[in-house]
Amino acid sequence: MVKSLCLALLTFVPLLWFLRESDGMPDPTRRDLLMREEVSRQTGGLLTLTPAEQKLDAYLHRLKEQEMAATPFPPALHFFKAKPFIERSSIYKLLQKMPKGAALHIHSSSLVSAEWLVKNVTYRPHCYICFTWDNSVRFLFSNRQPFPRWDCFYWQLLESLRARIEDNAAFDNSLIQHLTLFTEDPDGEYPNQDVVWEKFEKAFIATAGLVAHAPILRDYIYQGLEELHKDNVMYLELRSGLSRTYELDGTIHDKIWTLKMFQEVTSKFKQNHPDFFGARIIISVHRALGVYEVKAAVTEAIQLKKDFPDVVAGFDLVGRENSGRTLWYFREALSLPAELGASLPYFFHAGETDDEGTDVDQNLLDALLFNTSRIGHGYALAHHPLAKEISRKRNVAVELCPISNQVLKLVSDLRNHPAAMLMSEGHPMVISSDDPSMFGTTGLSFDFYEAFVGIGGLKANLGTLKELVVNSIRYSSLPDELKDRAFTMWQTKWDSFISANS
Ligand SMILES: *[C@@H]1O[C@H](CO)[C@@H](O)[C@H](O)[C@H]1NC(C)=O
Ligand SMILES: *[C@@H]1O[C@H](CO)[C@@H](O)[C@H](O)[C@H]1NC(C)=O
Ligand SMILES: [Zn+2]
Repeated sequence: MVKSLCLALLTFVPLLWFLRESDGMPDPTRRDLLMREEVSRQTGGLLTLTPAEQKLDAYLHRLKEQEMAATPFPPALHFFKAKPFIERSSIYKLLQKMPKGAALHIHSSSLVSAEWLVKNVTYRPHCYICFTWDNSVRFLFSNRQPFPRWDCFYWQLLESLRARIEDNAAFDNSLIQHLTLFTEDPDGEYPNQDVVWEKFEKAFIATAGLVAHAPILRDYIYQGLEELHKDNVMYLELRSGLSRTYELDGTIHDKIWTLKMFQEVTSKFKQNHPDFFGARIIISVHRALGVYEVKAAVTEAIQLKKDFPDVVAGFDLVGRENSGRTLWYFREALSLPAELGASLPYFFHAGETDDEGTDVDQNLLDALLFNTSRIGHGYALAHHPLAKEISRKRNVAVELCPISNQVLKLVSDLRNHPAAMLMSEGHPMVISSDDPSMFGTTGLSFDFYEAFVGIGGLKANLGTLKELVVNSIRYSSLPDELKDRAFTMWQTKWDSFISANS
């Protein structure tokens, strides 16, 4: 290697000298140096790969060249159209096997595939359905005929309804449609952000009646961990409002019940899957609430964090940023922990917008002013040099969710995602899936594919993947000692992944 390099230099340098003298051609050695220096700045650019990793990297590079030359190029398509192509991709299949560390940005109400909700949950006894005037559905488990309510005039027992319907497969498919954004014609059906967000929120409301039933929530969390584990994800930080859950007889459980249940389910899952590391909650409230309500929520979250230090990671505000209230609007509420000398780490969604220069666009700097630990999305970060600088200096990672940004219409061709810039300069970053059930994904592999192939392009390599995965542990909310343990567990998985695939 060294020898051949010297040989090359001996042969070329005099020639170059001559060329440079004669026609001003830049020095190729210097060119080479500059190119390598630039690549070294990208995510993972400074990692040294082992010989086995280099072998896999070369293989990945060849695969990527092939996929970039083929048509259609999946990251250029809407994910709903790209999905079947991605599923056939060799890179995707490798990414599925890759130990991906942690999922740090997923919402609890869209953790589990809609398919499971319909095929499993709606077939359980006592499940009622109601069709609303605005072409949506509501579900409710009850041991008697539910009373009509403002959004639901007539409840039908699903079991009896299914007995009267001939084509139950088609009926189940129509239910799945109500619980996800998936459609064959995304561009026609969702002409703009308003329309897609409206359907998005409707689907959340439709799901709520199923998931808020206490015995279902238990199985739902377990199933969610199962889906992540199958995709080689070992740890989860789940954003959840810990909304009230109900029993068949109408008994209501509070947040403490939900936290305890979450803890139980997680430890049962770990018992059954010793290579799973665990799960924590980021308590989230909707940004449509008023200051007074958010103050109460922050106060409650401080207490819950104290009482459940191993489960509660921190706090966030959720809901569409463009139409919701800004972080600054909630400043009195968000200053409470500092005022009280209490600890409540923040994990704010910020910059999930393309409305440059508006009040909403200031959420990025405000999130940093409130000492956020990570930035959810940070789609607008590339346009905020100061916020970018601060987040880099303080190691505040961006949670990049490529498919979410595309489906919710911030970007159409993922090669144009602004995170390409962040990746090429090695900005602290992790990959996540945001709302997997809504977008028809499970695990993180689809989002890794889009980030690695579409956003990263040909220059993103195995080092990029490795750094993104290590980041997911590094930037998690785990205390250092647990991070070390998670990292050791991951390293073992990674080593066997490399040796099995190189
Ligand atoms: C539904 O899921 C539960 C576990 O969550 C499982 O025990 C049961 O077998 C599933 N039922 C069906 C019909 O798939
Ligand atoms: C943010 O951190 C700084 C430095 O540690 C501290 O002085 C400030 O009070 C914190 N602000 C909030 C809102 O927590
Ligand atoms: Zn989100």
